[in-house]
Amino acid sequence: MCGIFAYLNYNVNRERRYILEVLFNGLRRLEYRGYDSAGISIDSSFSRDPNTPSPISPPPLVFRQEGNIESLVKSVYQDVALTDINLEESFSIHSGIAHTRWATHGEPAPRNSHPQTSGAGNDFLVVHNGVITNYEVLKETLVRHGFTFESETDTEVIPKLAKFVFDKANEGDGDQNVTFSQVVLEVMRHLEGAYALIFKSRHYPNELIACKRGSPLVLGVKELTEDMSIGASFHDVKHLSKEGHPKELFLSSDAHALVEHTKKVLVIEDGEVVHLKDGGVSILKFDNDKGKHSGGLSRPASVQRALSVLEMEVEQINKGKYEHYMQKEIHEQPESLTTTMRGRLIRGGSCKAKTVLLGGLKDHLKTIRRSRRIVFIGCGTSYNAALAARPILEELSGIPVTMEIASDLLDRQGPIYREDTAVFVSQSGETADTLLALQYALENGALCVGITNTVGSAIARNTHCGVHINAGCEIGVASTKAYTSQIVVMAMLALAIGDDTISSQGRREAIIDGLFDLPNKVREVLKLDQEMKDLAKLLIAEQSLLVFGRGYNYATALEGALKVKEVALMHSEGILAGEMKHGPLALVDENLPIVVIATRDACFSKQQSVIQQLHARKGRLIVMCSKGDAMSVCAGGSCRVIEVPQVEDCLQPVVNVVPLQLLAYHLTVIRGYNVDQPRNLAKSVTTQ
Ligand code: F6R
Repeated sequence: MCGIFAYLNYNVNRERRYILEVLFNGLRRLEYRGYDSAGISIDSSFSRDPNTPSPISPPPLVFRQEGNIESLVKSVYQDVALTDINLEESFSIHSGIAHTRWATHGEPAPRNSHPQTSGAGNDFLVVHNGVITNYEVLKETLVRHGFTFESETDTEVIPKLAKFVFDKANEGDGDQNVTFSQVVLEVMRHLEGAYALIFKSRHYPNELIACKRGSPLVLGVKELTEDMSIGASFHDVKHLSKEGHPKELFLSSDAHALVEHTKKVLVIEDGEVVHLKDGGVSILKFDNDKGKHSGGLSRPASVQRALSVLEMEVEQINKGKYEHYMQKEIHEQPESLTTTMRGRLIRGGSCKAKTVLLGGLKDHLKTIRRSRRIVFIGCGTSYNAALAARPILEELSGIPVTMEIASDLLDRQGPIYREDTAVFVSQSGETADTLLALQYALENGALCVGITNTVGSAIARNTHCGVHINAGCEIGVASTKAYTSQIVVMAMLALAIGDDTISSQGRREAIIDGLFDLPNKVREVLKLDQEMKDLAKLLIAEQSLLVFGRGYNYATALEGALKVKEVALMHSEGILAGEMKHGPLALVDENLPIVVIATRDACFSKQQSVIQQLHARKGRLIVMCSKGDAMSVCAGGSCRVIEVPQVEDCLQPVVNVVPLQLLAYHLTVIRGYNVDQPRNLAKSVTTQ
């Protein structure tokens, strides 16, 4: 939740208008992380020589606005028009920061938007993604020292603490005795919780500091020469850098926002403090214990890091011919599934078996096979994907598989053992609940496997091994293509674990054949787009929609209902069909629409009997069935039918979810809601 972004231009002239647009575009790219308010800070007009020790600069300008990014953009240009701020004024060095918010503490309002400030004069400004858990204690202390607070946010303590630290260090002699990074390190020593922070200060003009613990942060570097590494100190960087070499530096919650500027990035790690100054980048490692013992402002170790190259194209993050990201992502599933499987399915030769190769797991497969239990852990759609894959994993591995919603596992402190393999499923790789569950499983000694879409994410870095789903950027808040790619990766996981069992070789090969053909089947099912749009028109005014599934497709029922609920804002419930008689049947009448998933698999006859029971109660049925089954599934009553191509049973959830994704999409558009930014939601839930 919340996106932070910063832009620093060094020795390259940039007009204020350009700087504003870079910041606004950065926020537009991050808007999926939160969209209830936004803000930026840039410099006001002043002339100074960057080579002489800088006196305090005039207070930076701060703009904050309730609403989405476009509301901020509009209000900034309106404010600028009313003042003497010159959009054409050029800066050869300038640092700007920006934020888009998903409210946790305090309602969406300008005072609660970021940048949060140290007070009048804007001595220190901070943009924050995360939650400071000990903010109340810090606030009490700061109030005792004369600070007054204007917001209800947890973040406001941070710039105020920075000012407190700065003022204290400079008491007496009137000189500036402390560096920007020392101030920030001291602030970090007092913070508990999760955060990615960017600091701007009028005491340190043209500098920026970023630091993180728990929340994601990426640095982007433009116009560095190929062999340049990021230095350990300013001195190193200056030495490596051509004197006066112009460059642009970016900080962002997410690499998506950087790809239009540069592909050279550095994923900042927990505890690192990144200082941008004089065109250089220095990275310091925060060590809380050292800070505690040193008594004064700490001087931590510096670290050497190399830049990596982002494998992402700008086209991937644009909508292309589609109106919405969710629509684009639904329709690109044949391609995303192909990418997920690329290089991982081995066709076999004349006497060689077809098999699966998951490079990230190959050294751990033996341990996984020896596990007493496999525990799937995730939230929301990622949990549903794991649920869809559970039966095939149980079948091919013979190992008991249990399911855990990350927050529930933590609430119960449920048992996790050394003999367990815990599989963490997360599109973003940053979900706070899943990350905390990972921490818990690591402490309990389980082998931890990550399945994520985000290279370099916290889950990818902190698990022992794992598989990237390679579905490409997913920007729509409602997860679609990541879901189908997650199921495919977990089906491949089941194949890899069961690879040493001769008796199931035929079954495994049939699944591998099915995987090869899956993108085509998904292409076929996408042709139901218009049909789903027509169905959406029929359902537009409904209050509620039930979805019944079982076996492999219980997960499809949950996922279809989740999509309808979260984007179309219609109550919808996924129900295990086997439970129908134990309660939900009471809801059935001739008005409530019910989707029953009855494609061909081992549960087919049971689902036929469910349909009969619903017919007997005059249920208003929409039946999803395999091609050619329309007549037989609807015998005994009237119903609307969605016919889908039949695939291997364990892959059927991938095909079956697509019409429900399309239905949710069209329902949302027809009902006039925001598809890509559903009410109250954000994509990466980095707070508990
Ligand atoms: C629903 C959706 C959420 C996420 C959940 C976990 O469409 O996207 O339910 O699946 O917040 O997120 P990740 O997968 O990033 O851990």
